[in-house]
Amino acid sequence: MPETSPKGLARLAFGGDYNPEQWPETVWQDDVRLMREAGVTMVSVGIFSWALLEPAPGVHDFGWLDRVLGLLHDNGIRVDLGTPTVAPPVWFYRDHPDALPVTAEGVRHEFGSRGAICHSNAHYRAAAADITTRLAERYADHPALAMWHVHNEYGVPVSACYCDSCAAHFRRWLATVYGTVDAVNEAWGTAFWGQRYARLEDVNPPRVTPTVGNPGQALDYKRFADATMRENFRAERDILHRLAPGVPVTTNFMTALSQCDSVDYWAWGREVDIVTNDHYLITDGRRTHVNLAMAADLTRSVGAGAPWILLEHSTSGVNWQPRNPAKAPGQMARNSLAHVARGSEGAMFFQWRQSRRGAEKFHSAMVPHGGADTRVWREVVELGASLDSLAAVRGTRTEADVAVLWDWQSWWAQNLAWRPSEDADPRERADAFYEALYDRHLTVDFARPETDLSAYPLVVVPALYLMTQKAGADLKAYVERGGTLVVSYFSGIVDEHDAVHEGAYPGALRDVLGLTVEEFSPLLQGESVRLTGPDGRDLDGDVWTEFVVPRGAETVWRYADGLAAGRPAVTRHRLGEGVAWYVSTRLGQDGLDVVLGRAAEDARIAPRAGLPRDVEVVRRSGETGSYLFAINHTAVDAKVPLETSGDELLTGERAAGRLAVPAGAVRVVRLDG
Ligand code: GLA
Ligand code: ZN
Repeated sequence: MPETSPKGLARLAFGGDYNPEQWPETVWQDDVRLMREAGVTMVSVGIFSWALLEPAPGVHDFGWLDRVLGLLHDNGIRVDLGTPTVAPPVWFYRDHPDALPVTAEGVRHEFGSRGAICHSNAHYRAAAADITTRLAERYADHPALAMWHVHNEYGVPVSACYCDSCAAHFRRWLATVYGTVDAVNEAWGTAFWGQRYARLEDVNPPRVTPTVGNPGQALDYKRFADATMRENFRAERDILHRLAPGVPVTTNFMTALSQCDSVDYWAWGREVDIVTNDHYLITDGRRTHVNLAMAADLTRSVGAGAPWILLEHSTSGVNWQPRNPAKAPGQMARNSLAHVARGSEGAMFFQWRQSRRGAEKFHSAMVPHGGADTRVWREVVELGASLDSLAAVRGTRTEADVAVLWDWQSWWAQNLAWRPSEDADPRERADAFYEALYDRHLTVDFARPETDLSAYPLVVVPALYLMTQKAGADLKAYVERGGTLVVSYFSGIVDEHDAVHEGAYPGALRDVLGLTVEEFSPLLQGESVRLTGPDGRDLDGDVWTEFVVPRGAETVWRYADGLAAGRPAVTRHRLGEGVAWYVSTRLGQDGLDVVLGRAAEDARIAPRAGLPRDVEVVRRSGETGSYLFAINHTAVDAKVPLETSGDELLTGERAAGRLAVPAGAVRVVRLDG
């Protein structure tokens, strides 16, 4: 069994990407002095250092890295050591220009950035294995080594390459998955538009076509590209496991849907020894802490609930959005501790010292351009102390109330071209349902379809267009045994090849929902419909309506206008011991809250009374006890009801009855008992 926590790290992880090669060695002394001042426990080193470690083919220079690791070790700082395979040196591309990836339009990328990689390229694979082997041989037993950091953020900035080696590799992948060309024809439905293939050799990547290409091919290419990156991860991981047994291997994920959409993290979660994640606030005017909580819950979920590590976030503004606001005072700590509440074993940053040169010089860091006499630095030091006092939460697990079904592959499929409405955006629905659950103070586990959900009283399916019959049957069994299910529109429509399930919509969910859908009738932009329901409680929908025919389900809300007027809009189906709700239009946050409130009643989930909307309360528990995290995202002091008394770990005070959480503050109580 590989190790599942950083070797020799007895505290929470606190530190960042450390890029000493950007600085003269005299600065390194200042770095470690400041790291000690802030209580840094671990840094990530060498992620982009290939060109320095191997300045010419076969010529290696590890001296500087030896000195960096030695210095860190002398100062008690653990190292998350990168394999630099996301940034091959220029000499590599000079010798192997075909390792540069090609776009669907046929444009070959140039050297001069990072992540310019064709993952099918045999020369790249050999070179990556070689530098990984040399690093592992040299540092396997280094006393500073805590963990390996393979590559960087697979899936960005290039999610797929369309070159000829990838075409050949895709055909091999198809041969393995399907066996014969006839099976490919069947899966992709190539009878349509005369796309039939007589031999696998004629299949290409889904490059630019005059009009919409084959959706099955496009979906499989996403799977292939993801699987190919995973092959390369596994190759590096296996070298590291072999040469450095006992040192866990990770690669930093980006689970937030807005930050990387090309990686099936359900599959990746099983490959890493420790799940690690990078998360950046998308400042688009929405409540950033809700998206943060969602990404953290998703990260924990892809690791099956085990503790994980936030490997990168920002101390203040980033530099890659159109507008990059600074974080408000206290926001960095709230962000960091919200990740910890949801299972992270620490909070790390991009990056330690803000660069003076290069593309990211305006990205915030732990040590800003202004040095130690800055607000950011003072908050960094304060956060270090807070994390130090939370070491006992290590190994505990976040407690969830509900499950949300999520599947990247369904998202890939739904986002292909020529759907009933481009406004039916699965990510938007996932965000909206998540937000409604967050506002009810319910902690979410994400779950993949076809897993056991019996531990959850409530399961929500915001958008699962692609769903196997097995996944539908599992949900039916879940409800029959007493579960409560809420499904939103355009779910359960196609199988794994993007083929519509036989019979009426929604093929995979007809039985559990007790209804069929005769026709979709999406709305035009700006249009909305009114839904009349129980107790005069009307709701509004937009984007989507459809013609629902109840076949066992009762109609709870009905369309009052639009083409679907008079027909069911929101239904409830009692089945066995449980209940399945169906929502056939896009409800706003108010409507979602009403429907989820009804479903929560069915699921016998008591409302969390007395908590303001933006006061986040999450629990972690395990062998060392039970910890209640309360994060006040508002500008008003709050009180959080406590079931039992306990010790507040950040202030050292006793807490009983009601926990005072000042505006903008975080409190963590170790509950007695
Ligand atoms: C990503 C990368 C880092 C850095 C940050 C900036 O997470 O992994 O190298 O570019 O973004 O936000
Ligand atoms: Zn390629």
